[in-house]
Amino acid sequence: MTTKKQRNACVFAGLVLFFSLILSLCINYAEGASCGNRERTDIPHLKKTATATQLIVDNEPFVMLAGELHNSSSSNLEYMEHVWDKLVLLNLNTVLAAVTWQSVEPEEGKFDFTLLDGLIAKAREYNLRLVLLWFGTWKNTISCYAPDWVKKDRDRFKHAQRKSPRKLRPRWGFGEKLEVISPFCEETRDADKQAFAAMMRHIHKVDADGHTVIMIQVENETGLLGDSRDRSALAEKAFGQSVPKELIQYLRRHKGSLIQELHTIWARTGFRTSGTWTELFGEGPDTDEIFMAWHIGRYVDEIAKAGKAEYPLPMFVNTWLMREELNELPGEYPSGGPVSKMMDVWRAAAPNVDLIAPDIYWPYFKAVCAKYTRSGNPLLIPEANRDAEPERKVFYAVAEHDAICFAPFGIDNKDFKPEHPLGQSYKLLSSLIHLITKCHGTEKIRGFLQYKEKRLAIDIGDYRFNISYNQESEQDHSGCGLIIALAPDEFLIAGLDFVLSFGSNNKDLPHAGILSIQEGRFEEATWVPGRWLNGDENGHGTELGFPSELATERFPVRKVRLYCFKQ
Ligand code: DGJ
Repeated sequence: MTTKKQRNACVFAGLVLFFSLILSLCINYAEGASCGNRERTDIPHLKKTATATQLIVDNEPFVMLAGELHNSSSSNLEYMEHVWDKLVLLNLNTVLAAVTWQSVEPEEGKFDFTLLDGLIAKAREYNLRLVLLWFGTWKNTISCYAPDWVKKDRDRFKHAQRKSPRKLRPRWGFGEKLEVISPFCEETRDADKQAFAAMMRHIHKVDADGHTVIMIQVENETGLLGDSRDRSALAEKAFGQSVPKELIQYLRRHKGSLIQELHTIWARTGFRTSGTWTELFGEGPDTDEIFMAWHIGRYVDEIAKAGKAEYPLPMFVNTWLMREELNELPGEYPSGGPVSKMMDVWRAAAPNVDLIAPDIYWPYFKAVCAKYTRSGNPLLIPEANRDAEPERKVFYAVAEHDAICFAPFGIDNKDFKPEHPLGQSYKLLSSLIHLITKCHGTEKIRGFLQYKEKRLAIDIGDYRFNISYNQESEQDHSGCGLIIALAPDEFLIAGLDFVLSFGSNNKDLPHAGILSIQEGRFEEATWVPGRWLNGDENGHGTELGFPSELATERFPVRKVRLYCFKQ
């Protein structure tokens, strides 16, 4: 016989057991969920704030001080043996390397990732991150990296056709070549997609813990050269159809914030919201370009989407730029490629593509950066001209535009000897990266780069920084630098070939003076001070010079304290 007291104790014990069980289930679930989250956020990803986008790698903002290899370098690991050391000596933290459809799927359905595994292993050994460039259906608009079985079967893998390639002025010899798969060929798209997905699955298998591979470029410089649109039968059929509702919806939703060039084209037909391509945008090359951008974007998006389903690394496309100063027409530069004026069409067509990256070979570097940061596109420069002072341009990209990557093209070229100034510039920027990333999206950081102009004024808080570049001619080195506000009256300034004087923006205290200037450097985020610069070294309190080729350092850094005063 149990007493009432014993029965109550039993019920109580049962309840305690029941609730602890529930509690432990909840804890397990929460842990599981947070584990799941942890795993998800651990994947390199892009983090958007209201004013900037950061690349997050191993939970920290990461700026790729990088270089892109020549196209063929990563096709042989033995060749790469002499490259890795140099990349480290140049202080790169990331290398952009091609992985080709041709090498990955030499026979249909049979994949070989030996080369990729070798690249990942070596990059890890040298403590470098990798951005992989998927040379699939298109590389510089041509289908030269398609596997043999794709190249040879032109019935199954259909090619683009051009009406009058000679009418346009493509300055690129291969504009005449017809080894160009049509973006309207679903068979090729699906084959490319499978290969790309297999590669992403493999990267997930071998690198999901290591995060050596941090981003992927999908295809390379897409678009059609030699005509404003594909004239193959498939393309002609699509051109006669109505503009897809997804594009129209996008245009309507973003009408107030569309890239100006596209807005202007659409305005010509009174912003029509239904009809064929010509009904919506009018007759002519602009419409052809929009049509091509939509279809190439859709094609690339399918591939990116399939890859992300396996392993959702951030993905981008790179752009062969249009030369505005030559009034180039679509087809003289790749029509339908992701040029900045087509950014909205690409966004609508390819939501799985995270950003559009300009390959900048032209001298008007700053103008290109401005175009490719429109409407929130984060700046990633996968290719910059290696012969045009990349060590200076990187300052501007990183400090003025919060660039997440800067990479001169052909980093394994013989021009890049270990003593190349790029190494110094990357060394300096890596030592400042903790400050730079903290300022992302704020007015606390500014970058500058000389292009023809002789002087420039930059305002930060109470102060005006008057920059006077040292060189007169365009042929000389261009002045470059950055300013980071550490506090309202304290600034970190670095760069080359300019002289600074200071002004006040404070109406009550209209003059600015120098309290102190200290040279130094950052080691592991700690300031290691050098001399106090005064007297002859700061024009007796009037200015601060950043000459190049100083005896002891190539890229000087100074901590400057200022104050405002009244006479
Ligand atoms: C741009 C391409 O994207 C690169 O792969 C390479 O071909 C360079 N041009 C060569 O300048």
